[in-house]
Amino acid sequence: MTQPHHTREPRVVVVVPTYDERRTLPGTLRRLLAAVPVADVLVVDDASPDGTGEYADEQAAASDRVHVLHRTSKDGLGRAYVAGFRWALDRGYDYVVEMDADGSHRPEQLPELLYAATSTGADLVIGSRWVRGGEVVNWPLRRQVLSRGASTYARLALGVPVRDVTAGFRVFPARTLRRLHLDSVQSQGYCFQVDLTWRVHRGGGRIVEVPVSFVERTAGESKMSRAIVVEALMNVTAWGAEYRAAQAVRGVRRVGQALRRS
Ligand code: GDD
Ligand code: MN
Repeated sequence: MTQPHHTREPRVVVVVPTYDERRTLPGTLRRLLAAVPVADVLVVDDASPDGTGEYADEQAAASDRVHVLHRTSKDGLGRAYVAGFRWALDRGYDYVVEMDADGSHRPEQLPELLYAATSTGADLVIGSRWVRGGEVVNWPLRRQVLSRGASTYARLALGVPVRDVTAGFRVFPARTLRRLHLDSVQSQGYCFQVDLTWRVHRGGGRIVEVPVSFVERTAGESKMSRAIVVEALMNVTAWGAEYRAAQAVRGVRRVGQALRRS
């Protein structure tokens, strides 16, 4: 079958959730706009007390590539992304990118992720710390252990063939997001990343990991909390139990069918 000839460049938007990132967002925005000329940016700010939202508004006034979505209170990474994804789908973007504001995800590596998305036709591309060639720079050992542990647990509990399940540097083709039933996403914190990986995999989607170098922020603070870890642990465990139960039911059905035939 012949493919239709593409007459236009794919449209890309990078969704950047922010909460108190006044010190880190400027560098990230500047680098992103320079490194990825095809991309627009949507900052999703949860009424940061430190003026991040006002800064983003100034940038949006100065560049037609920068947009801002203001939310009224700190409501979690998951909800911020769902709002940003809806905004992007409503405006007809072809690729929707997830990226942290704090410089941990290098904008200069985004072209590689986008290339992987367009050249492989993957349903999700993950910028991965935990594949060969991936790395973390200056990340405390405690966070490395937590991240690797969470990934391993999620991989085994859910059967997702992904090394960096919680990664926050990703490319979603719009068609993937349209299929994911964003309305039913309950995850508030960072388990949102696991949730979406799991949804893509369960839906038969193909996931490609591209090695990236994750650099610990040099300013501002992580919003990681005990509540976020607890939510992730509880959700992954519940999803895993549901998945194993469904697997068992399918197994029992197959045995029943085999017995009836014999
Ligand atoms: N709008 C909004 N609302 N943004 C938020 C919220 C929120 O409630 N919580 C966090 N963010 C934003 C931060 O401002 C930052 O831009 C990004 O989300 C990541 O938050 P960090 O607090 O810097 O995360 P981290 O470095 O500790 O987390 C690491 O683990 C996460 C979970 O695996 C990174 O690897 C993330 O990429 C990953 O998602
Ligand atoms: Mn960070």
